Amino acid sequence: MSDHRSQFEGKNVLITGGLGFIGSNLAIKLIDLKANIEIVDALIPECGGNIFNIKSIENKVKIHLSDLNNFAKISDLVKNKDYLFNLAGQVSHINSIKDPYSDLRINCQNQISILEACRKNNPDIKIIFTGTRQVYGKINSLPVSESCLPMPVDPNGINKLAGEYYHILYNNVYGIKTTSLRLTNTYGPRQFIKNSKQGFVPWFIRQAIDGKTIKIFGDGNQIRDFNYVDDVVEALLLAAISDKANGQIFNLGGTSVTLLKFTELLFNIIGGGKYKIVPFPKNRQNIDIGNYCGDYSKIKNMLNWQPSVSLKKGLSRTIAYYKKYKKYYW
Ligand SMILES: NC(=O)c1ccc[n+]([C@@H]2O[C@H](COP(=O)([O-])OP(=O)(O)OC[C@H]3O[C@@H](n4cnc5c(N)ncnc54)[C@H](O)[C@@H]3O)[C@@H](O)[C@H]2O)c1
Repeated sequence: MSDHRSQFEGKNVLITGGLGFIGSNLAIKLIDLKANIEIVDALIPECGGNIFNIKSIENKVKIHLSDLNNFAKISDLVKNKDYLFNLAGQVSHINSIKDPYSDLRINCQNQISILEACRKNNPDIKIIFTGTRQVYGKINSLPVSESCLPMPVDPNGINKLAGEYYHILYNNVYGIKTTSLRLTNTYGPRQFIKNSKQGFVPWFIRQAIDGKTIKIFGDGNQIRDFNYVDDVVEALLLAAISDKANGQIFNLGGTSVTLLKFTELLFNIIGGGKYKIVPFPKNRQNIDIGNYCGDYSKIKNMLNWQPSVSLKKGLSRTIAYYKKYKKYYW
């Protein structure tokens, strides 16, 4: 075990959204590192919470089924914690268009509640927030660095940006240690895969496993930047223990390929498959971000993070997981 990992041994950690995709993978890792874990999650319908996600550690974590808007409960939960991984969020861009108020509540208003709970009850806690590359919107010049002016194209991007800036504000104004990571397309075991609302990645994986025809919108040459979930978990851990990270926003990034290349790779691993190029539906075209590739040199230089799992290896592991546990996810 490298040095930084041993720092979590015996530490008290709260994970919001810990029954979801990234939160559950993080919880499993932290149990492995001998931290004391509590999870708070409201299992919001249409979000990715799934109790099976933490099956392998169910006797080692304390779960609180509560919404972040329950101020009394959250105030109590943040007490005596060393770290708060604040991952509870509404991820779907399409849902944020359909219901901007819910997105505003979850991705912005609830974030103020949790920050206030920390300010009043545990100002020494370290908070790590999961932001998103969606805040940048449609950018012509790649790769995109943190200095690029955010220009969100949907309510999700606006509300996540506001939620992130509240974290940085509480660092700068109240001295509560916070860091935000701007995640790009993250994939891996335990992701919501029931429909396409949480993005094309889990949906393409499901369609490929089921032998269905994948519909690619546009021409398939859109570039996306992919991170395997274990690499994202590693970035969260590094941000947690580094004082240099306080008050900072970092891009993540990994393998950038076109949707066509991503689909081809998927078919190579599965042993075949079909796809069809179709025009963008209007509601998706309006919020499409074009091409994206993140410049992650800041986190690489400051925290020594870089992704280590190739897209091929990560997708192979993901497919193997879903084939094995299909009945809990389909
Ligand atoms: N998955 C990605 O590719 C990606 C990309 C960019 C940013 N992010 C961010 O990472 C975080 C985690 O994403 P994920 O993919 O694990 O999502 P997920 O949907 O799998 O998990 C989110 C969890 O948060 C819970 N939650 C939502 N609102 C809540 C509330 N008000 N109170 C309590 N629990 C609540 C949900 O029930 C769910 O279990 C989110 O903040 C998301 O915006 C994810």
